[in-house]
Amino acid sequence: MHSPTIPRTDLPRTERYAALEQEMQALLAGETDAIAAMANAAALLHHGLGMHWTGFYRVVGNELVLGPFQGPVACARIASGKGVCGAAWMEARTVVVPDVELFPGHIACSPLSRSEIVVPLRGRDGRIVAVLDIDSARTADFSELDARWLEKLMRPIEALL
Ligand code: SME
Repeated sequence: MHSPTIPRTDLPRTERYAALEQEMQALLAGETDAIAAMANAAALLHHGLGMHWTGFYRVVGNELVLGPFQGPVACARIASGKGVCGAAWMEARTVVVPDVELFPGHIACSPLSRSEIVVPLRGRDGRIVAVLDIDSARTADFSELDARWLEKLMRPIEALL
């Protein structure tokens, strides 16, 4: 049984991601169910990074439907192309929003969210099948460093989709 370490949110973010990568590997080892993997990944990243909201939306038909998450309740459905999540899905790339108030069309699920990053996840056929959305209560909390690390951390989950 994997025993999680106490999340170290005081570490510089690169070190934190390196630790989270190890944790993620241990947590997902042998897991074959994508929902179980997304649920534990959301919890690990949310507490490990000290975020306001961390979760997944899955592509279902022509909209994004809420999946496993940590944090306050959120919008259950996001229409195609809407919000930061919809933009990441449509543009098939990670989107970093330093200030959500300056992003046209941002969907404010929580007034406490100040900055956001959305990483698309590809299924085995290469199509985008889900997105990881992380919201911070701090402005400009995400950079290219977060984008690259989170894309890397999503690979074992993409292998299950
Ligand atoms: N802010 C997101 C919507 C999802 S919530 O933040 C959990 C967006 O604009 O796509």
